[in-house]
Amino acid sequence: MINQKLLFARTYEKEAGDKIAAESRPKFHLSPHVGWMNDPNGFSYYKGEYHLFYQSNPYDTVWNSMHWGHASSKDLLHWTYLPCAMAPDEAYDSYGCFSGSALELPDGRHLLMYTGVRKEGGDHGEELQTQCLAVGDGLNYKKYETNPVLDASVLPEGLSKNDFRDPKIWREEDGSYQCVVGARRKNGLGSILLFGSPDGFSWHYESTLIENDGHHGMMWECPDFFPLDGKHVLLCSPQDMLPEGFEYHNGNGTLCLIGTYDKDKKKFIPENNQSIDYGIDFYASQTILAPDGRRIMIAWMQNWDTCDQNGTRGKKWFAQMTLPRELSVRNGRLYQQPVRELELYRSNKTEYKNIAFEGELRLDEIEGRTLDMELTVRPEDKAEMYRKFALRFAQDEQYRTALSFRPYESVLKIDRKFSGSRRAYIHQRRSLTANKEGELKLRVILDRFSAEVFVNDGEQVMTATIMTDLAAKGISFFADGNVVMDVTKYDLFAEE
Ligand code: FRU
Repeated sequence: MINQKLLFARTYEKEAGDKIAAESRPKFHLSPHVGWMNDPNGFSYYKGEYHLFYQSNPYDTVWNSMHWGHASSKDLLHWTYLPCAMAPDEAYDSYGCFSGSALELPDGRHLLMYTGVRKEGGDHGEELQTQCLAVGDGLNYKKYETNPVLDASVLPEGLSKNDFRDPKIWREEDGSYQCVVGARRKNGLGSILLFGSPDGFSWHYESTLIENDGHHGMMWECPDFFPLDGKHVLLCSPQDMLPEGFEYHNGNGTLCLIGTYDKDKKKFIPENNQSIDYGIDFYASQTILAPDGRRIMIAWMQNWDTCDQNGTRGKKWFAQMTLPRELSVRNGRLYQQPVRELELYRSNKTEYKNIAFEGELRLDEIEGRTLDMELTVRPEDKAEMYRKFALRFAQDEQYRTALSFRPYESVLKIDRKFSGSRRAYIHQRRSLTANKEGELKLRVILDRFSAEVFVNDGEQVMTATIMTDLAAKGISFFADGNVVMDVTKYDLFAEE
């Protein structure tokens, strides 16, 4: 029996969502069927397909009443909307079905683990956050009878029952299950808790995997923990960050800790820390271990501090997911590459090699808003370093978004001030890149309303959304000083 609230959401999604013109959406980044979207949830491989759920408010383009929207894909790039998977229709999740994760059980059922939130004492009361389960077949999900499976009673002394959320579940080699959940201590700082389960249904506290020592914001949201290339990686999204050089910016940020896992003590010891993404629009990442062994990450291609929720009202959909990205660890750093499936949808290759120039440059056939472009720039003469290189895209007489690089500082900046935004929020961000004597390598993926910039083979990534009119599709290059550049551009999904 499908609950009324879920049925209503499904009917509304179908009616209102199917009316949204495909041309008004990104081509291969997932956007909500209708309404508002935030975090990716339940990223999993189930019965031969990738499933991705998302924090959804179908009824408006602002955050409210969290449902789990649902889509599936065979290649991580073409997504099919499926009916809404969960509505906040139980006493324990009446304030929202918050973020969580999913996996396939050995008996073929799909298990969702999420945070059920309720308010104690009415709408203005205290938020109570608990971990809950739902089981389904890839289409319909039934919430577990004995929800919640983890509540405040399992929390170590001094942890808040108001901030206990975002379970990320995985299966261990011995067939048992574990999950990490974000929690908050009395001093406001986050802790990541580890829980264990023999069957995925009955859960117990194992350890405090790691505590925020105050260097990286306050509460840590959406944790994820996995082995990769001989190391262990903890990804999370800290709230209330203070800036630190070019590494971290104010507000809601992203954090990647790379280190070792002491399996006996069940403690994670970080060795290196870095931002996950150095651009403007990125938060709440979640990974999947794909059947072929790749660790693939997807994230909300927005950020609480950079989206003007009220400004979205009246539109039919808001927000996108990032491109799924393949992760690796090299020399103590996280590397990201767009999923290799993207290369299957390249066409119209245009290539230029060794173009020496200074000043402004345009190149035939290098334009568009749905493309994959690789570019390398270097000084013509190492003894005479150029002062600045810039790539401008989504450009016409009125608009442009720019990437600019100053080799003396090794700083790469993304600037969307002239992208058509009429609000005074964050338009620029800078990132310190590894100094390679003025050589810079970029791979830029454009998909209508976004740019993802993979720097120096994925050593860093800068992501930003742009709402620029699609007619602005020009691309130009600029150099203050003498540079030599190689460019290869492909259109993406041109035949579809
Ligand atoms: C992160 C987050 C999560 C929470 C969800 C609610 O963006 O705040 O911690 O589960 O969004 O929508």
